[in-house]
Amino acid sequence: MADPRNGGKRNLIIVSNRLPLSVKQTDDGTYQSSISSGGLVTSLSGLTKSTTFKWFGWPGLQVDDPQDREKVSKSLAAHNAVAVFLDQKLANQHYNCFSNQILWPILHYQTVTLNESAWESYKKVNELFAESVADAASDGDLIWVHDYHLMLLPGLLRKRLEEQGKFCAIGFSLHTPFPAKDFWRALPVRKELIEGILASDQVGFHTDEYKQNFMDSCHSLLEATIEPPDKIRWKGRWIIADSFIVGIDPQKFEDTLQKPEVISRIKELEEVYKDKKVIIGVDRLDYIKGLTLKLKAYDAFLDEHKELKNKVVLIQVAVPSREDVKEYQDLETEISTMVGKIDGKHATPDGSPLVYMHRSVPFTELTALYAVADACLLTSMRDGMNLVCFEYVACQAKKHGVLVLSEFAGASSFMNGGCITFHPANTKELSDAIYRAITMRPDERESNYNQLRRFIDKNTSARWGETFIERLTKCTA
Ligand code: ADP
Ligand code: G6P
Repeated sequence: MADPRNGGKRNLIIVSNRLPLSVKQTDDGTYQSSISSGGLVTSLSGLTKSTTFKWFGWPGLQVDDPQDREKVSKSLAAHNAVAVFLDQKLANQHYNCFSNQILWPILHYQTVTLNESAWESYKKVNELFAESVADAASDGDLIWVHDYHLMLLPGLLRKRLEEQGKFCAIGFSLHTPFPAKDFWRALPVRKELIEGILASDQVGFHTDEYKQNFMDSCHSLLEATIEPPDKIRWKGRWIIADSFIVGIDPQKFEDTLQKPEVISRIKELEEVYKDKKVIIGVDRLDYIKGLTLKLKAYDAFLDEHKELKNKVVLIQVAVPSREDVKEYQDLETEISTMVGKIDGKHATPDGSPLVYMHRSVPFTELTALYAVADACLLTSMRDGMNLVCFEYVACQAKKHGVLVLSEFAGASSFMNGGCITFHPANTKELSDAIYRAITMRPDERESNYNQLRRFIDKNTSARWGETFIERLTKCTA
């Protein structure tokens, strides 16, 4: 990463709404940080091993007192993270109301209505990010912006940097699907958002389908020229648009599986579930993950396979997410009701076929759960990639467990028959998929596993990041 404009050094700046640590204020007024969950943080954290960067983002809460800001900044600095502080009301409008009640649903094919004041706040927050990042950037730096919270940032940044006489390469990566053009155009501010992204030099998606959908929108809404397979011409500039396969850091799971406390936890869990087939599900509690469909199909599966009574258990970890958003609160209520009904209907004095954990679990526990499970069940209705399925594979070197993955998760387009796929809203298909998974012959499990394992070992998060940065560096050299 050499650049003569900055003494031969081209620094990398990452910008995302979510930082690797989320800060909360405890009842006694002190600040506590915890590791953030979600695919964006997982993929970027996997890059830290091989690449050095500063990571700008929102700390997760309002901090006004300058001394408190210093404390928060200091704790984040230990992780190379830099806080973009926001007023709580503005952050709420940007994060909850626009990003998560308008953009997130439309990107996942749900219809929405525009909230004008939330749009104003979204613009304002993108401006504040632009100000912070542009001030911190040096001439020649590489700036890599992430996800739907910051779609306007490339455009605002380019303008500010030019005003300051700095020439930086700007990349943008979307961690969600990009919908088909007829869906995207339903959003009244559809043009402004893609114009913001097009101020980047390179735009990355998880799959070719999302890339193609984005290009279609650029062509039909902005009359941009598309030069297949990967170029867009817009306002006299060329922009690269491509898919970059995002992954995990499999070594992190290998290392965790060697820890004595994880080895003994696995033994404990194996004892608890010794006569049962264990199915694991790990999802943020989000409607895109299809949890209601999963529970409905699991209920149908239990009804149909009475011979498996007390012989199968689904352990569902539902990580709390976006709890200030009404749709997420409603979902929580709906899921709790369904869990209660399934439990009431199928539990016996010997146990329940469903263990529902509505909380965040420590990484060591998560790894142990992945390792003991005979199958992993992921039923997303739409999902940018889904990294949980790769994490499950990373922990299954011994058991060769079966991956049961919705055809609507981005990851399924790379699995080439190595897992069982299904339509999540087809209850019978899903129930049959569960049965097939827990009765699969060992030789079939092994050959599927080997195929998936090769994929996750090759397509790591480090490789994803390095490939993106290398191409961004080249296209702006
Ligand atoms: P999404 O990005 O929509 O949440 P992914 O499946 O791509 O979906 O990524 C979820 C990530 O969150 C995974 O890497 C998973 O390990 C991680 N995760 C799940 N539970 C926790 C937790 N308690 N703490 C931190 N990360 C978690
Ligand atoms: C998805 C999004 C990320 C987000 C993550 C967790 O992966 O693409 O941008 O960080 O979900 O959601 P949260 O709202 O907690 O940041």
